[in-house]
Amino acid sequence: MLRVTGLSKGFGGVQAISDLSFEVREGEIFSVIGPNGAGKTTLFNMITGLYVPDRGKILFEESDITALPPYEIAARGIARTFQNLQIFLNMTTLENVMVGCHLRTSSGFIAGALRLPKVAREERKVREWAREALERCGLADQADATADSLPYGMMKRLEIARALASAPRLLLLDEPAAGLNDSETAEMAELIKGICESGVTVLLVEHNMGLVMGISHQVLVLNYGELLAKGSPEDVQNDPKVIAAYLGNG
Ligand SMILES: Nc1ncnc2c1ncn2[C@@H]1O[C@H](COP(=O)(O)OP(=O)(O)OP(=O)(O)O)[C@@H](O)[C@H]1O
Ligand SMILES: [Mg+2]
Repeated sequence: MLRVTGLSKGFGGVQAISDLSFEVREGEIFSVIGPNGAGKTTLFNMITGLYVPDRGKILFEESDITALPPYEIAARGIARTFQNLQIFLNMTTLENVMVGCHLRTSSGFIAGALRLPKVAREERKVREWAREALERCGLADQADATADSLPYGMMKRLEIARALASAPRLLLLDEPAAGLNDSETAEMAELIKGICESGVTVLLVEHNMGLVMGISHQVLVLNYGELLAKGSPEDVQNDPKVIAAYLGNG
C-alpha cells in the first residue's frame, strides 16, 4: 500500500532520515519506533507532504506521491494526527470532527454563500459522517462538549476521530498514547486495533512499547535516521542491535 524507497532528508548538519526503504501492506498496523530525534516525525511529514524529501520516492497504492502538496496527499486517502495535539479548543467535539470531512464534500464557497440546496444536503451528510467518526472513537456522548472541557485522553481520541472523518485508507498516528495513563492507553490500543479491523491501514509512531508490541504486525526501528531493524514485534524485541540502541540512548 505504501512503499518508501531511498528516502533521505537533512536539516543543515542533521541527517534526519537516511536512505530509508520499507513497505507497508494493506490491512496492517506498521509501527515506527526509535529514540527521540530518530526521524519518526520527519518521516510522517514527508509522507504527508509537509516536508519535501532530499532524495527517494514515496509510492501510495502504486502511484508516486513524493512531494505532492499536503492537500493532494490527503485527498488520495492519507490522514494523520500530530505529536502535539492539533484540535480547536473553543469548538465542540462534533465541530472539530466536521472539519475533517471537508475532503469528502464538493460544494465550494460560492455554493455555500448562495445557500444552494446541495449545500444543506451536504451539511447534513457531514454531521452524519462526523457523528459516525465520534462513535467509532467512543466520543458519541461528547458531541456537544467544547473540546477544551474534555479529559486529555478524549482529546487524543478526538484528533483521531477528525482524521477518520476524511475516510482515509491509510492513517498515520504520531504518538497517540503520549501523556495517557494506563487505562487510557489500553483504550487507545483497542481503538487502533478496531480502526485497523475496519479496513484502515495504520502507520504508528509510539514510544509506549507495551502498546506497540501488543498491536503491531510489523515494527521498524529507526536510529539516527537509519533503519536499524524491521520485523515482527518479537523479532525486533530480541534483536541485539535494538536492545543496544535503546540502552545506549537511555
Ligand atoms: N524543521 C526542522 N528543522 C530543523 N531540524 C529539524 C526539523 N524537523 C526535525 N529536525 C531534526 O531532525 C531530527 C529528527 O527529528 P524528528 O522530530 O523527526 O524526530 P522524532 O523521531 O520524531 O523524535 P521524537 O521521538 O522526540 O518525537 C532531529 O535532530 C530534529 O532536531
Ligand atoms: Mg516525533
